[in-house]
Amino acid sequence: METTCFLTGVSIILAYSAMAFLAIEATNIITDQSSLLALKVHITHDPKNFLANNWTASTSVCNWVGITCDSQNNRIIVLNLTSMSLTGTIPPHIGNLSFLVQLRLRNNGFHGSLPVDIVHLHRLEIFHLELNSFQGEISSWLGSLPKLQI
Ligand SMILES: *[C@@H]1O[C@H](CO)[C@@H](O)[C@H](O)[C@H]1NC(C)=O
Ligand SMILES: *[C@@H]1O[C@H](CO)[C@@H](O)[C@H](O)[C@H]1NC(C)=O
Ligand SMILES: *[C@@H]1O[C@H](CO)[C@@H](O)[C@H](O)[C@H]1NC(C)=O
Repeated sequence: METTCFLTGVSIILAYSAMAFLAIEATNIITDQSSLLALKVHITHDPKNFLANNWTASTSVCNWVGITCDSQNNRIIVLNLTSMSLTGTIPPHIGNLSFLVQLRLRNNGFHGSLPVDIVHLHRLEIFHLELNSFQGEISSWLGSLPKLQI
């Protein structure tokens, strides 16, 4: 009886660990796409229609303007929205772009604070956010990104 209870307990713990692991690791190109669609929803002004007619589910996310995918893993490695005259905020979903190496937001009208979820982008090397209207300090968590160079 005690052994059974113990084993059941162990199985439950293992099942929960597996679920927690999947919750953290199970991002894929579909997650990447939903992260970008969440970002699109947070863009309130796109006067040159860069994203309006281009970031649509009818074409592969890897063909969207400003997006570069890694041909090996088929995941987004570059998000480049430089000088697209976009106004809006950055949603926490950006932290789900697990393979992102370059995040280029330079020269737009992005405002609000940067979501702390960016700290999940362990592969991030290049991050340009200058010439926007972000509020708050450049958060100390940026320093915990292991590969960040710029
Ligand atoms: C989106 O933009 C890219 C890059 O400019 C272009 O190659 C692609 O054809 C566009 N897609 C649509 C659906 O307009
Ligand atoms: C990012 O986009 C801008 C504007 O389209 C372009 O001039 C620049 O070369 C791009 N940078 C990279 C690294 O792709
Ligand atoms: C992505 O990020 C958002 C906000 O941080 C979260 O709610 C969502 O569950 C995440 N995962 C997926 C698979 O979209």
